Amino acid sequence: MESPTIKSFKLRGTRITDAQIDARQRLWSQFGVTYNSQLIDLKSAFPNVEKVVMEIGFGMGEATVEIARNFPTTGFLANDVHQPGIGKLLSLIEENSLGNVRVMDEDAHLILSTMIGDHSLDGINLFFPDPWPKTRHHKRRIINQEFIALAASKLKSGAIFNIATDWEPYAHWMVEAFATSPEFHGGIVPRPQWRPLTRFEGQGLRKNHKVNDLSYLRK
Ligand SMILES: C[S@@+](CC[C@H](N)C(=O)[O-])C[C@H]1O[C@@H](n2cnc3c(N)ncnc32)[C@H](O)[C@@H]1O
Repeated sequence: MESPTIKSFKLRGTRITDAQIDARQRLWSQFGVTYNSQLIDLKSAFPNVEKVVMEIGFGMGEATVEIARNFPTTGFLANDVHQPGIGKLLSLIEENSLGNVRVMDEDAHLILSTMIGDHSLDGINLFFPDPWPKTRHHKRRIINQEFIALAASKLKSGAIFNIATDWEPYAHWMVEAFATSPEFHGGIVPRPQWRPLTRFEGQGLRKNHKVNDLSYLRK
């Protein structure tokens, strides 16, 4: 799959702080994985882990770092296109001396389709994907049948696709989309204890949005 012409993200203003620019310049060579069209060697990228999970759309990365601290034997390939967040996550990785997080800054469609080997991931985390609430924008939602098929091809049998959303109609949309896939089994679940509150989730809760967690097992 190419990067879709209709994007699931909208690049927001470039309000990036000096600290985020500095982190990007200093730390990318240590913790970043630059996009190219070749498969990533996940064993070299994460030499000391038992599992590798890709996180799509980490935002500012606070939840990513908390999860990575709590699961030191899992490697996290964290991906977003939001430059301030990339700088922020790089500095949090340094501050927390984390050896199990690598950062990428491309569209997840492109990374998955060109850089991730088939059946090589132990999980995908997708927390609070842009909800695109207007009907005319539904085509921008990252969860659709094509993306589910792409994710299925990259996950190992037994891997888990964890999702959370604060937009209830999107939760139902996801349930319907996954129901058409013979490769996944799952649905809405109680909030996993291991999942920290994310920045975007906090904003949704302040607006009284109901949060739904979803969990799908790759058969
Ligand atoms: C609503 S924010 C949620 C951020 C974070 N997970 C949280 O809960 O605070 C969604 C994030 O997904 C990123 N995103 C959307 N589509 C993406 C894609 N195709 N590839 C990588 N990142 C994407 C956006 O840049 C944005 O930072």
